Amino acid sequence: MVPVDSSTALVTDEAGRKLGAVEVLRDLSEVRALEEQLERSRTLAALGEMAANVAHEVRNPLGAIGGYLELLERDMEEADPKRKLVRKMAEGLARLDRIVTNLLTYTRPLTPDLREADLREVAEEALRFFQLGCDEKVSKKVKFSLEFSGTVRAYVDTELFQQVLFNLFSNALQAMPEGGELKVRGYKDGGWACLEVSDSGTGMTEEVKRRAFDPFFTTKAKGVGLGLALVQKMVHLHGGEVSVESEPGKGSKFLVRIPTLR
Ligand SMILES: Nc1ncnc2c1ncn2[C@@H]1O[C@H](COP(=O)(O)OP(=O)(O)OP(=O)(O)O)[C@@H](O)[C@H]1O
Ligand SMILES: [Mg+2]
Repeated sequence: MVPVDSSTALVTDEAGRKLGAVEVLRDLSEVRALEEQLERSRTLAALGEMAANVAHEVRNPLGAIGGYLELLERDMEEADPKRKLVRKMAEGLARLDRIVTNLLTYTRPLTPDLREADLREVAEEALRFFQLGCDEKVSKKVKFSLEFSGTVRAYVDTELFQQVLFNLFSNALQAMPEGGELKVRGYKDGGWACLEVSDSGTGMTEEVKRRAFDPFFTTKAKGVGLGLALVQKMVHLHGGEVSVESEPGKGSKFLVRIPTLR
């Protein structure tokens, strides 16, 4: 069904005799789609503001709990079996803190500190740190590779860009529970410095691909859905674009492009 707007006009001759009528139908699908989009962005904006407030309020008590947990652990005997419980609480707390930090990074206005950088160095460092933080069981099953053609320089906020790559690497790894290949490729294409992160994981359906960058969209039981929203926000802050190619069963390839330096 197509929404339409219609208007009818009678056609008469000079003597006023009816000759017929003209019916004009206007296709309103585009207008409707725009209205829906507007409604959606309003909802997202309100949601974002609420999330930022909650995140901010939640952070202080989280910090306090962390402090008390440390005191508790310090006062316990080395062999106390209850130590394990305190560890578990600290782990849960760290996860909460990560989520809240992501929320804040996503919602607070950021000004990137852009400096000339060699993308290969940035990517190598990000991959190295990422591998260090990986569970050994996981990283053993995954083949990591990094390949650059030529020197690729760009204005980059290294800290923010690391977050971009970290999120792409985590998603890639999570898409390959049975292991596979995580490839990073860098090259220049016209005025763009390009970075590709590809995996041989589950891939995405059209529906997932369409919504993947929406804040709070997730298909994971423990996901928040902010990873790619953050990636997109930060790439935009670098004057760039991020896109994805993916098919179910065939893995995914994320392409980040930012303006290159001559
Ligand atoms: N490399 C990938 N392979 C397959 N699906 C992916 C990949 N990257 C993202 N997705 C899909 O896009 C969704 C959104 O990703 P995003 O990183 O924004 O959130 P998340 O990973 O679910 O949660 P979070 O990153 O906040 O912990 C994922 O839930 C997943 O369905
Ligand atoms: Mg993610």
